[in-house]
Amino acid sequence: MSVSIKRTGRVPLAMVVVRPAKLFDIPDVVRIERASFREEYPRGVFLVFLENNPDTFLVAEYNGKIVGYVMAYLRPDLEGHIMSIAVDPSYRGNGIGSALLTEAIERLIGKGARYIGLEVRVSNEKAIRLYERFGFRKIKRIIGYYADGEDAYYMLMPAEDWGGRN
Ligand SMILES: CC(C)(COP(=O)(O)OP(=O)(O)OC[C@H]1O[C@@H](n2cnc3c(N)ncnc32)[C@H](O)[C@@H]1OP(=O)(O)O)[C@@H](O)C(=O)NCCC(=O)NCCS
Repeated sequence: MSVSIKRTGRVPLAMVVVRPAKLFDIPDVVRIERASFREEYPRGVFLVFLENNPDTFLVAEYNGKIVGYVMAYLRPDLEGHIMSIAVDPSYRGNGIGSALLTEAIERLIGKGARYIGLEVRVSNEKAIRLYERFGFRKIKRIIGYYADGEDAYYMLMPAEDWGGRN
């Protein structure tokens, strides 16, 4: 089945605000997650994540509408981990994903992260390209990481390689 996505026109990034998520943003975050991933987290996961990581769970807002989110956290081993990032399909290709990733990385490094890490489906070429542009490198392939059996790449970027805002 093919789903047609109605794209918006160009979104001026100057009008996109990236800010910490609030409780009232969760329905929009869930909407974007459902439109972006095959596997879905139960709603409670977002609420618990927000409670534990209020300054690294971020949303992008444009014209009063939530158009993307990133969920990131600092692990005890000082790896800043990107758990999930997605942009509303109608708003992709405008730099919103890059803006979210940039803010998450800056905040994680500000909290003491020595590395930034994430897992990505081996078939997700678009996201892999984005991460490589940011300086992430494939470290290993994790066999059968996803519930449907697909492998993941574990990608990592040392904090010292982060040259500031992309
Ligand atoms: C991955 C994802 C978050 C990227 O979000 P995005 O907002 O489209 O990201 P960006 O716009 O910053 O970058 C995407 C492309 O747009 C281009 N772009 C960025 N800003 C641009 C601008 N102002 N004008 C034109 N193109 C632009 C980028 O160069 C990039 O091009 P490329 O992928 O062809 O190399 C989004 O595709 C998504 O939600 N995917 C589904 C969920 C997913 O796979 N998440 C990652 C799981 S690990």
